[in-house]
This record gives sequence, structure tokens and C-alpha cells, in this order.
Amino acid sequence: MESPAWKKSELTVGEMSRRSGVAVSALHFYERQGLISARRTSGNQRRYPRIMLRRVALIRIAQRVGIPLADIAAALNSLPDGRTPTQEDWERLSREWRDELDERIKRLQQLRDDFTDCIGCGCLSLSRCSLANKRDVLGEHGPGPRRLLEDAEQSGSSDGGVAETVSR
Ligand code: FES
Repeated sequence: MESPAWKKSELTVGEMSRRSGVAVSALHFYERQGLISARRTSGNQRRYPRIMLRRVALIRIAQRVGIPLADIAAALNSLPDGRTPTQEDWERLSREWRDELDERIKRLQQLRDDFTDCIGCGCLSLSRCSLANKRDVLGEHGPGPRRLLEDAEQSGSSDGGVAETVSR
């Protein structure tokens, strides 16, 4: 009798897809991007070491919070290739992302809290715009939602990911 999937040290692509919740086509894409890897059987079928589930989970979550794939790849490339990453490896990786994640959390909170107010984008569509951005005076400072961008600049980030966040 075949052992249950949880007992297997290697998973087929179908098992990986089922357990990770990621489509087979996406797993193939991750593999082409060098984010995950699999050995091939003599019949050229993929066999993923079970630890790849953790990598796929990290990729999914990181993508969901808006971390670019290139940054995810760089982070994963810093993990050991030949051995299973230890808890310390994962801790180091999440420490490296902490500042960026803190900044994104701040931007998302700003989006949640400030987006009902005038953001200085030039639309002049809210009654508040005539006070906060009379005659689009903020447009003279540059492009984009100036009130969000300038808040971000004052807090020390270049655009704080605002342009990226707002365009989503
Ligand atoms: S919200 Fe666009 S200029 Fe005020």
C-alpha cells in the first residue's frame, strides 16, 4: 500500500500542487525562475524534496504582500542549496525583510486610513480637495498623489512603495 503524502520525503508535482495550493503551471514557472527545484526520475518526472513546500509557502505569502519576485528569488538564493534550511536560516531571511515589510504595512495602513481624504493626486474630486489641494497646487511639487508621497519622503523612504501600492 502506498504511504500517505505526509510521510513522503519527496512529492510528485501533483502532490506539491495539492498540498501547497499552487497550480502545477505556477510550480513549473517557479522552477524556471530558479525559485524551487526538483530532481528528475528516470522517467523524467519531477520529485520535489518535501522542504520545497516551505519555499513555495514563502513565495506565495511574499507575493501576496507585494514583494517583487526578484527580491524573493534573491532571498531564497541566500538559503543553503545543498542542505535543508535551519530555523536560523529562516530567521535571518525574515530579519532581512523586516524593514521592507514594516514600510509596506505602514503604506497599507495609510491607504486604509487616508484614502478617503484628499491625497493630492490632481483629481480635485472631493470637497476636501479645494482646501487640501486648492487649484491643484500640489501638482507643482511633482507627479502622483503628492500628499502620500511627501509623507513617505518625510518618513525617509524614496516613494515608500506608494506608487506601487496605489496602482494595485
Ligand atoms: S483627492 Fe485627488 S486632488 Fe484631492
